[in-house]
Amino acid sequence: MKSLGNIKTYEGGASNIPGKRNVIKLSSNESPFGPSPNVVSKIRETIRKTNRYPDGEYKKLKKTIGKKFNLPESNLFCGNGSDEILGIACQLFLKKDDEVIIPKHSFLMFEIYSKINGGIVKTSRTNKLRFQVEDILNKINSKTKIIFLAQPNNPTGFYLNKKELSKLVKKVPKRIIIILDAAYAEYMTDNEYSTGIDYAKKNKNIIVTRTFSKIYGIASLRLGWCYAHRDVINLMNKIRGPFNVNHVAQEAGIAALRDKKNQLKAIKHNKYWLEKMKFKLSQLPIHVHDSRANFLLLDVGKNASKLNRFLLSKSIIVRTMEKYGLKSCIRVSIGKSKENIKLLEVMDRFYK
Ligand SMILES: Cc1ncc(COP(=O)(O)O)c(C=O)c1O
Repeated sequence: MKSLGNIKTYEGGASNIPGKRNVIKLSSNESPFGPSPNVVSKIRETIRKTNRYPDGEYKKLKKTIGKKFNLPESNLFCGNGSDEILGIACQLFLKKDDEVIIPKHSFLMFEIYSKINGGIVKTSRTNKLRFQVEDILNKINSKTKIIFLAQPNNPTGFYLNKKELSKLVKKVPKRIIIILDAAYAEYMTDNEYSTGIDYAKKNKNIIVTRTFSKIYGIASLRLGWCYAHRDVINLMNKIRGPFNVNHVAQEAGIAALRDKKNQLKAIKHNKYWLEKMKFKLSQLPIHVHDSRANFLLLDVGKNASKLNRFLLSKSIIVRTMEKYGLKSCIRVSIGKSKENIKLLEVMDRFYK
């Protein structure tokens, strides 16, 4: 049996508070709006066919992703959440004692999947929580097999700009796989941001993962996809389960991708509230990190646990950050307007 003693079990953001109703959940960076009406009606329609196995090659879904993002279907792979794809990539590329470079304070599943597959994690330094390309490059040795980068990073919201990403891609030896996790890509409107797909088109060693769990509002259905070189995709197809993406998720994903109006609405809402929350929260005696995604990392100093308890008492769930090595921080997702207003009021009250 594998020895998994050094692996921490992943705990998602809490969903409820015992004894409380009408809870405001800002702990998992999900869409606060839920699936669009078109997606809901597609789910209703497809649920009747759940006695049948799904299309194991999810041809229609790949076709729709390909069309929307202008990518050849042969470079696409889908998973039961992008999560599953990260795990499959580790299964594919890691053997015992291979090294994996992960920047400090990043998505916890990178470390978990690396270790499950025998990898040794080397943590690269950050400066003011920003990834340092030089330090990532310095950590490379003959045992390095994978470099993970969340683009933008969860929980900080920072990302490597195009210049930094270009430098990294150029300097990393091609035998090392770079996994760019772009779960929050749809929210990113900066010119300096790239999901990395353009780099993956030219470099066989890059995999870019994407998800339907955020802007598309179907986290519960578990659907993600990735772009990679077709040789990598072919190998991933050998590893995955035969029906790893269920039929409801496939159809809901297609409907979500087609619902451009809904995506634009979500982007507009997020942009407005992200800036507003940054501005309002920075008037409190806390440090607001400059995220561009659908969440904010707040450094509240010694008050993190006390503030979390206060928020819970007011029915608001945020994410505490001990597991990310950021004990003095909490992470809050952008919610619906009403939820954001309530959060701001409760935060104000805490600091008065
Ligand atoms: C950086 C990052 N990658 C991946 C995921 C998980 O995505 P999925 O729901 O597609 O597994 C998350 C979820 O919070 C995330 O923050």
